[in-house]
Amino acid sequence: MREYWNDDWEFTTVYQEEFKFIDYPDNDLEIVRLPHTNVTTPYNCFQSKLYEEVCGYRKRFVAPAKWEGKRILITFEGAAHEATVFINGQEVYIHRCGYTAFTVELTEYIDIGKENILAVRLNTKESINQPPFGNIIDYMTYGGLYREVYVEIKEKEYIKDVFLSTREVEKPVKELRIQTTLNEDVNERYLEHTLCELDGTVITRFEQTTDRDTTYQVEGVSLWSTESPKRYVLISRLFHGEILLDEYQVVFGFREAVFKKDGFYLNGKKLKIRGLNRHQSYPYVGYAMPKRVQRNDVDILIDELGVNAVRTSHYPQSQEFIDYCDERGLLVFTEIPGWQYIGDEAWKTIACKNVEEMVLQYRNHPSIILWGVRINESMDDDAFYIKTNSIAHRLDHSRQTGGVRFIQKSNLLEDVYTYNDFIHNGRNIGVSKKRSVTSDMNKGYLISEYNGHMFPVKSFDKESVRLEHALRHANVMNDYYKEEDIAGGFGWCMFDYNTHQDFGSGDGICYHGVLDMFRNPKLAASVYRSQTDCSPVLEISSSMDIGEHPGGNIGHIYAFTNVDSVRVYKNNCFVKEFYPDQKWFKHMIHPPIHIDDLVGERLEKEEHLDKKTAEEMKSILFAVLKYGVNGLPIRYKIKLLKIMIFKKMTFEDGMELFNKYVSNWGGKVTSFRFDGMKDGKVVISVKKEPIAENKLEVITDTTELVEDRSYDVASIRIRMKDQNGNIQTYYQEPVMIEVSKELTLIGPKLLSLKGGMAGTYVKTNGNSGTAKVRITTMDGQQAELDYVIKKSTV
Ligand code: GAL
Repeated sequence: MREYWNDDWEFTTVYQEEFKFIDYPDNDLEIVRLPHTNVTTPYNCFQSKLYEEVCGYRKRFVAPAKWEGKRILITFEGAAHEATVFINGQEVYIHRCGYTAFTVELTEYIDIGKENILAVRLNTKESINQPPFGNIIDYMTYGGLYREVYVEIKEKEYIKDVFLSTREVEKPVKELRIQTTLNEDVNERYLEHTLCELDGTVITRFEQTTDRDTTYQVEGVSLWSTESPKRYVLISRLFHGEILLDEYQVVFGFREAVFKKDGFYLNGKKLKIRGLNRHQSYPYVGYAMPKRVQRNDVDILIDELGVNAVRTSHYPQSQEFIDYCDERGLLVFTEIPGWQYIGDEAWKTIACKNVEEMVLQYRNHPSIILWGVRINESMDDDAFYIKTNSIAHRLDHSRQTGGVRFIQKSNLLEDVYTYNDFIHNGRNIGVSKKRSVTSDMNKGYLISEYNGHMFPVKSFDKESVRLEHALRHANVMNDYYKEEDIAGGFGWCMFDYNTHQDFGSGDGICYHGVLDMFRNPKLAASVYRSQTDCSPVLEISSSMDIGEHPGGNIGHIYAFTNVDSVRVYKNNCFVKEFYPDQKWFKHMIHPPIHIDDLVGERLEKEEHLDKKTAEEMKSILFAVLKYGVNGLPIRYKIKLLKIMIFKKMTFEDGMELFNKYVSNWGGKVTSFRFDGMKDGKVVISVKKEPIAENKLEVITDTTELVEDRSYDVASIRIRMKDQNGNIQTYYQEPVMIEVSKELTLIGPKLLSLKGGMAGTYVKTNGNSGTAKVRITTMDGQQAELDYVIKKSTV
């Protein structure tokens, strides 16, 4: 049984030597709960120096008499970055990785029946000699005890680890290999493993007497897959005779994930990986967010971005996040911490330890399909990478290794060439050919990043920029879908993130996300969302406001959608029906629809021109829009002259047509309707017309919060929409956030919308009951969210 120790930590931003002793005065210490960030940061425009310090956490506890003769283990799930643990003033452990967990045995240091003090000296400085530090890094490396801490009380002998791997999964009789590690292996201890449904229904039992590595045959179980992520639990019990010494549970899945030379196979079926990279950061609190918020990102990836995979760039992420990837069927490529830089031998030894910790701590997750055992984007270092590969393979025979490179033809010591392919510049090919990158065509090949810094985009950038961003994501996706031997790709990246001054837009933000920092969508998000069939998606790239564009020319319009076709209406008159762009995007599951003609058949229908003249006239009108009247190429002038002569039209008639059908500059505003058609029926409709109303929309991921192992947090997204439900991209006004006392606001009370969107978070503070969050705009609109806060009784 785990006992979570997330509450009542005493915290200091300046660690002093005496802090670890019980008699150190605690008057000035702040009482904090975990997950905790050592420093709360502003939204942007700050530097890493803000959170770089040597801080301290300590916890008093009375060791109860029932602990006598037991083993006491404490696990820190995430302590960034160098943690020295003291018990009653005595140093017992140093852990040098901010992204993996560590367990310390306290048994021999604690005084039973007395008050003890557990202290952590936490160095959050980027100058420490351990990964990912040593050079500049394109992300903030926030500090703190930012994940949970728990204590386990064990008998003298206990189960240290159970590693489950599955084989022959496509056959009716599958293989389950159980590798058990005990803390001390003593004869005459035997293990009983019970395979159960998650609700506890027993499927079968296995016994392990002496051999701790046994493969069993299992029948009647379903596979874990992205569509149906079926999981089981194996309950392992350690006995000495009749006496139960320990129980250990692993939730896992039966599945086989293999990268072959021609792509990725899950349970023998080829599956294109369509993923995004995720950092684990949030506004204000850095890395410190509890379970619900971690899980929310998985829901967003699946439900709002329609991807089937995530890369946890550039470090192992929270177990809560990965557990939920298991539960929801999201594939994961995880990797050791690091960014371009390889340090000295001491640094490399820590990196090897990081590999070991990553594999041991995450290897039972069915969602994890690949280990990244190189420092992201580092140069070749064979001696080092032979070691990291062999550690991963030794500790996990069931998974392949990769290692993210930005160099081509590097020494491939891994099983899969994982490459950051930034070749696309908006006008050229989307991805490089596998053969031009990999050094071994017989091994798997995966694109671990694309886009990102090649085209940073803010949610409040102008429309043409936001469209280009979306098209670049579509271009790359189309091209990796086209290449049969590319296993898939991970776009850079899921959301914008705070970064160092060497990167970003000068305000400490890398605007590389398809979402903003609060997980609000940019246009590019719809490229991903439109690739699934869960519900109709129709995102029109343009607000249809001519004043947004040079010369009033709206330019290209795209619908990112999963419908069969889009019917366009202008001022309620039918213009034309448009179909997926099979020419340019034919390899995507749902190619975007290019809406390139807002005149359609209207010249024929409304001006009664014959078909040929109407087409000629249309091409002239489009040319005027493109080149202007004065710059009109000669061929269009000749066409125009012919029409004027033969159809007895004046130049003024032509200008009138131009104003009525194409330009509209100086004319009355237009309204457009886009009907998304599926099987001949309208399944979704989007209306674009001048903004007549501001409609505040506030979305929360939950209205029920639970004080459980620690505090709980609700994520709130705030958007200003128009009367038709379109986000008002250029609404940048402030909103005021008020929170009743049962909850605590994370972040400022007053914040400006950016790109018509913003967000905030509220956390529980020990209270239960009901709570209210009120958001008020400058024009007096209000939205209220009612929360119920429960206290877990478990
Ligand atoms: C890559 C790097 C990422 C991010 C990205 C931006 O080189 O691996 O961490 O910086 O560029 O495009």
